[in-house]
Amino acid sequence: MTTTVSDAAANPSASSPAIEADSSSPKVAKILDGKGCAAQIRLEIKQEVEEILAKSAKTAKHHLPPGLAVILVGERPDSATYVRNKTKACVECGFHVEDFKLEESISEQELLTLMDKLNFDEAFHGILVQLPLPTHINAHKVLERIRVEKDVDGFLPYNLGCLAARDRHPSATACTPAGVLELLKRNRIEIAGKKVVILGRSNIVGIPLALLMLHSDATVVICHSKTPDLETECKQADILCCAMGKAEFIDQQSFIKENAVVVDIGINSKDAPELKKGYRLCGDVKFDEIAKVASFITPVPGGVGPMTIAMLLKNTLELWKRSRIVEGVIENECEVGQDEMLKKAA
Ligand SMILES: NC(=O)c1ccc[n+]([C@@H]2O[C@H](COP(=O)([O-])OP(=O)(O)OC[C@H]3O[C@@H](n4cnc5c(N)ncnc54)[C@H](O)[C@@H]3O)[C@@H](O)[C@H]2O)c1
Repeated sequence: MTTTVSDAAANPSASSPAIEADSSSPKVAKILDGKGCAAQIRLEIKQEVEEILAKSAKTAKHHLPPGLAVILVGERPDSATYVRNKTKACVECGFHVEDFKLEESISEQELLTLMDKLNFDEAFHGILVQLPLPTHINAHKVLERIRVEKDVDGFLPYNLGCLAARDRHPSATACTPAGVLELLKRNRIEIAGKKVVILGRSNIVGIPLALLMLHSDATVVICHSKTPDLETECKQADILCCAMGKAEFIDQQSFIKENAVVVDIGINSKDAPELKKGYRLCGDVKFDEIAKVASFITPVPGGVGPMTIAMLLKNTLELWKRSRIVEGVIENECEVGQDEMLKKAA
């Protein structure tokens, strides 16, 4: 049995005390409702865009909304679904969004030529390349073609480097890790001083998540496919983040410290013959089993996934605001936190 934690997430500025694990009722995990939290963030973003545009001068340049270019190569159904969801969220927030749906057979050079065009198109403040790309295309080469000012996913080595260095600001931070931090923060879950164990060391999830947790003063352990005793490592975690891409791999309560916070980032499918589509989505964690020992747990779907999209919107918004400062579009100081933005843009 689970309960949701929607009040704190919906009203993060309320002065309620931090939510700490409740040792008197360890057998009922509360659900960290990413769907609800993401809806609230989208609302905040929409309002901020409207406010900024309302204060802007009435010229076309001043009225350019945040713009996102989304590149999808090929016809993978899962990628098409992700792109559809991202596009829908952008439209809902008043962004300009354009999907570039390209044939699977497109050459690397043709794709790079499109990237160059988008890099200098002022309608777009962020460029997203939906991964994975077909194997004949070098994904590193394509991603690294994005100008740092438009690196909405924060995947550029420069941005990952800025994230690793203390006191440096990446132009954007990878959306999924940023979404995990935001979900914990809005639910008032303490990170400072906690032991965080992360399963997975990818450049897009595990590594940036470890850095964000470290900067939030957690003690961080990163586990991966060569970690010899995963159970012992997991059992130490106050906050366990699973990003392996292995359906319901964490299925035993013995992996979980009592009252731990469990963040399930994995998106996998498992057979479900009873459903028309024949499968259902699941995470890396066996939800029903682990919810009996955890204090908080994210569901799949409805947990980290929607937060990822919310952070994509947030990153696009921030890149847009920064471009307005750099290009001198901003006219008055109350429009955005100019000092902070100028510092970052420098
Ligand atoms: N919720 C979201 O929005 C979102 C976003 C990105 C990725 N994901 C999901 O997160 C998962 C991970 O994505 P990724 O891109 O980081 O995947 P990846 O394949 O690049 O990385 C998987 C990581 O898991 C580790 N791993 C594999 N088997 C392991 C084991 N037995 N024990 C410990 N570690 C093990 C590997 O060492 C690797 O570092 C996938 O299911 C993906 O679909 C979700």
